[in-house]
Amino acid sequence: MNTARRDAAASDSRASNRAAYQALIDDLLAARQAAWLGGNAATRERHVKRGKLLVRERIDSLIDPGAPFMELAELAGEGLYEGVAPGAGLVTGVGLVQGRACMIIANDPTVKGGTYFGMTCRKHVRAQRFAWQHRLPCITLVDSGGAFLPDQANIFPDEGLFGSIFHNQVGMSAEGIAQIAVVMGACTAGGAYIPALCDEVVIVRGQGYMFLGGPQLVQAATGERIDAETLGGALMHSRVSGVTDHLAENDGHALAITRRLVGELPPMPPLLRPRAPVQAPARPVLDVHELIHPDPRKPTNTREVLRCLLDGGELTEFKQAFGDTLITGFARIDGWQVGVLANQGVLFTESAIKATHFIDLCCKRNVPLLFLADVAGFMVGQQAEQGGIAKAGARFITAMSAAAVPKFTLIIGGAYGAGYLAMCGRAFKPNAMFMWPNGRAAIMGPEQAATTLAMVKRQNLEQGGQSWSASDEEAFKAPIRAQYEAFADARNFARHLWVDGILTPAETRPTLSLLLDLAARVPVEPTRFGVFRM
Ligand code: COA
Repeated sequence: MNTARRDAAASDSRASNRAAYQALIDDLLAARQAAWLGGNAATRERHVKRGKLLVRERIDSLIDPGAPFMELAELAGEGLYEGVAPGAGLVTGVGLVQGRACMIIANDPTVKGGTYFGMTCRKHVRAQRFAWQHRLPCITLVDSGGAFLPDQANIFPDEGLFGSIFHNQVGMSAEGIAQIAVVMGACTAGGAYIPALCDEVVIVRGQGYMFLGGPQLVQAATGERIDAETLGGALMHSRVSGVTDHLAENDGHALAITRRLVGELPPMPPLLRPRAPVQAPARPVLDVHELIHPDPRKPTNTREVLRCLLDGGELTEFKQAFGDTLITGFARIDGWQVGVLANQGVLFTESAIKATHFIDLCCKRNVPLLFLADVAGFMVGQQAEQGGIAKAGARFITAMSAAAVPKFTLIIGGAYGAGYLAMCGRAFKPNAMFMWPNGRAAIMGPEQAATTLAMVKRQNLEQGGQSWSASDEEAFKAPIRAQYEAFADARNFARHLWVDGILTPAETRPTLSLLLDLAARVPVEPTRFGVFRM
C-alpha cells in the first residue's frame, strides 16, 4: 500500500472508531437521563404539586452555587427492578456545601415512594463507606417508605444491607464524622432510625414525618386510631418527643438550615499532599475515542491513551525496558501526583516483579496509585510456570492489596481473571473504581469461556463413546459467548455496583482530580506488607 492509501485507511479507521465510541457514550447519556428523571411524569407531577422539590433540585439547593456534584453509582439497579429507573431510587454523591466536601445521600420519593430495594441498601452503604474513608460529613435527605417489602431477602438479613446503614452511622459519628439528616417526607419503620441515629436532624413542617409504625400498623397492633401528623409529624417531634432538632417551613428552608449546620462544622482538613500547577495533556482527551477499536480483540496503544490523560502527557517511566507489558511511572493528573500502573499486554513474571517494586516505591513516598486496567490476565504455560509466575503474581497482589496509599482503578479496556484482580479489582477496596464505556471485566473472555466449556463437554462425550459435530459444538458455544459478553459489559458492572460508575474519557481527569483532592486530606498509615514469596 502506498503512503497516501495507508494514510486514508488510517483516517477511515480513526473515524469509524470515533463513531463507534460516540454510540457508546450516547447510550450512556440516555441511561443517565432516565436516572436523572427518576419516577414517571405523573409521579413527579404529584410530588411537585405537594409543594416539594424533586430530588436533584434539593441537591442543587443544598450545594454551593455552581459547585460540581460528583455522583456515584447513578446507574446502580438499572433494569433490575420492573418500572424502576436506573439509580434504585437513591441519589448519592459528593458536593461542596459551604466550601466543605460532603457526602449527600438523597431518596427519590418519585421512585416507588423512595423505598429501599436490595441495590438501594448497597448503594447507601457504599456511599457511607466512601464518606468514612474520606472523612466526609454525611447529609441524608430522607423521603422514603423504608423497605421495599417484596425484596426483603436482599434488604434485611445480611451484612452490607439496611442494618449496615445504621452501623456505619454509629461508627462515623463516633469518629467525629458529622451525620445530618433532613426529614422531607416519609420516614417509616426501620427507616426512621436513619435520622434518629444522626447527630442533628432537620424536619419540614406538614411534610416530614417519622415513626416506627405508621397509623395503620398502630391501629392493627394496639387499636389506637391516629393520623400521621399527630403520630410523627414535625411539630410533635420538634416540641414533644425531641427526636428532631430544627423545624423548617419547606424544602428550601430545610436546606438553608442544613447549609448553616454544615457551616458550623470544623473546617475541612488541610491538604497533606502538594498540588503542582496544572498542565493540559499532550493530546486532546477526545482522541481516546479514536484510539480504542470497537472490536475488543484489537489492542489499544496505552502509551497514547496516557498522553491524553496525564498532565503534559508526561510519565516519568520506571523500568521502561523491563517487563514492558506493564507501564509504570510517576505522573500528574490535574496537578496531583500519581503512581501509574497501566497494562500494555499480558502480565509476565517480569511485569509482576516491576509492579511490586513500583508499588513499594509509591507506598514509601506516599504517592496514590492509579491502576489503568486493560489486561487479558497473567501469562500461562510451562515456561511461565517454570519462571515462577505464580509467586511473582502473588507478590504483585500482596503489594497492591497491602498498599495503604489511596488507590484508584479505571478499567479502560478488558480486565480479565487474575489480571482484573491484580489491577486493584473491587475486592481490594480501591478508594473508587470506574469503567470507561468500552470497559469489560470477567473471569475470562467470551471465546475462552466458550472454548473451555466446549472442551470439557467434548472430552466427556468422547469418553462415553459419543461424537460431537462441529455445528452442535458451535450451537453449544454461542449462548456462552453471549452470556459472557453481557456479563462483562460496563453497564452490567455499573448496574450491580461492581464499580462506582462509568466515566467518559472526558470526565476522567476532573473526576480523578476531585478524588485525589479528597484523598489528599486523609492521613495515611505506613503500609505493612504481608510475606513476599521470593
Ligand atoms: N414496599 C413496597 N412498595 C411500596 C412501599 C413499600 N414499603 N411503599 C410504597 N410502595 C409503592 C406503592 O405501592 C406505589 O407503587 P406503584 O407506583 O407501583 O403504585 C409506590 O410505592 C408509591 O407509593 P404511593 O403510596 O402511591 O406514594 P405516596 O408518595 O403517596 O406515598 C409512602 C409514599 C412511602 C409514604 C407510602 O406509600 C407509604 O406509607 N408506604 C408504606 C411505608 C411503610 O409502611 N413501610 C414500612 C417498611 S418496613
